[in-house]
Amino acid sequence: MAVHRFPVTVSLTAVLCAAPLAVSSACTASEGAVAPPSPAPILAGAGTAGIATAGVGTAGAPGIGDPDFPRDGNGGYDVEHYGLTLAYDPATRQLTGNAAIRATAVQDLTSFDLDLSGLTVSRVTVGGTPAGFSRQGDELVISPAAPISKGGAFDVVVDYGGVPQPIRGYSGLGTYGFTATADGAFVACEPNGAKTWFPSNDHPADKATYDFRLTVPGGLTAIANGELDGAPVTTGGRTTFVWRERHPMASYLATMTVGRFDVRTGRSAGGLPVYAAVDPAFRDSLDDLYTRSAEITDYWSTVFGPYPFSSTGGVIDDFAAGYALENQTKPLYGGFRPQQSIIAHELAHQWFGDSVSITRWKDLWLNEGFATYAEWLWSEHRGGESADAFFRHYYANATDPMWDYPPGAARPADLFNASVYVRGAMALHALRLDIGDARFFALLRAWTGEHRFGNATTAQFVELAERTSGRKLGPLFDAWLTRPGRPSVASGPPQPAGA
Ligand code: ARG
Ligand code: ZN
Repeated sequence: MAVHRFPVTVSLTAVLCAAPLAVSSACTASEGAVAPPSPAPILAGAGTAGIATAGVGTAGAPGIGDPDFPRDGNGGYDVEHYGLTLAYDPATRQLTGNAAIRATAVQDLTSFDLDLSGLTVSRVTVGGTPAGFSRQGDELVISPAAPISKGGAFDVVVDYGGVPQPIRGYSGLGTYGFTATADGAFVACEPNGAKTWFPSNDHPADKATYDFRLTVPGGLTAIANGELDGAPVTTGGRTTFVWRERHPMASYLATMTVGRFDVRTGRSAGGLPVYAAVDPAFRDSLDDLYTRSAEITDYWSTVFGPYPFSSTGGVIDDFAAGYALENQTKPLYGGFRPQQSIIAHELAHQWFGDSVSITRWKDLWLNEGFATYAEWLWSEHRGGESADAFFRHYYANATDPMWDYPPGAARPADLFNASVYVRGAMALHALRLDIGDARFFALLRAWTGEHRFGNATTAQFVELAERTSGRKLGPLFDAWLTRPGRPSVASGPPQPAGA
């Protein structure tokens, strides 16, 4: 469900071919594909869009076109929906899955990839017909019995299973992906760990809706995104939870966190459903998590624009991940009782990152800079240090390593660098000082409104900031986001500009 494609300046043939303005015949020619005799194309949906008239297309690219993560995501199609039917047994750590994926071809396809790490695939169908498949590293390469035509919708069903392996050792990232715990699983997947538990187009540029049908041993709770569809059903000692996230979601935000949980549900003062869950080791934190999550979501709705999703909440699991993740509607806190600032951060991500998603990982400051700035705003709202005081505090340290790391291009080996968070937040404060409070907060609401449920880039943010403020802001963004060194601040110690 990609709303925005990569800019055509990304010089990968596959990306150019996936771009809406690219002419498919040019792509075919540049690939030099020789068309074998054409069997009937797989079609879904009426009309002529899915009918291949010349040739049978080419293989979808093994990456979606993110230059920093060339094997992440895939080209050639766009996913609309994942239907995941999964059973997990903590005793054996065995995951058994059926993934039903509805997608649309954006080129004529002879084969295409899904991302899947480990696990064993037993069967794949496309359009209900068994398809060929092979594994190449973390790519599941699928060869449908007949080619798929550009514009055609198609259903892929993958049966698979095994013991999921989380991803470790990526500098500064800790463990992520599907991670077994003493009583279940901790599932936090940023940046590319969805592939550890379901076959996917594992990149935020292709968002989709999700249904989860999760079966776990009786007594355990399985928590996914969105809302429960009915009460859990227990039969034969196992319980099935059905969750639906009907708003588009990036794959790294999907979760199926499993374990013993104490749960509190209700509504926020603003009327939004709230679901909070804590591992029994954090029983004392349940009411605080519930209350704060509700209060902060309501507050952010007044600052950032209407809450994008249908429920809010949070989950504290007893796994010492050392980080939290803004899983859509269900931020996940890894083995610690979150302070208000962290809850404020993860809930701000529901607007910045989850509803408005990045198109490539380089732009991660659009998530982390904004969520960090939200921590400062929450402090100010609570009568603590002002955002300006945070800014001046960090600005005063002339030797901070972040001055050598411009946050506008997050580095693939060091994505979550403090600069992406703090200098990214400072860039926003510098902007606020420049354009004034009224225009700054109007800009934040315009950003969440214009790109709601979609994808966006830094260039689009700069463009919107210039459009809403009527100012040329290139030099300011350049100094804060692109150039090494501590930017100069116009005159004296910064003070908040008047509205
Ligand atoms: N986005 C998370 C946050 O709120 C950080 C995730 C870090 N990911 C990881 N694999 N350690 O700041
Ligand atoms: Zn964050």
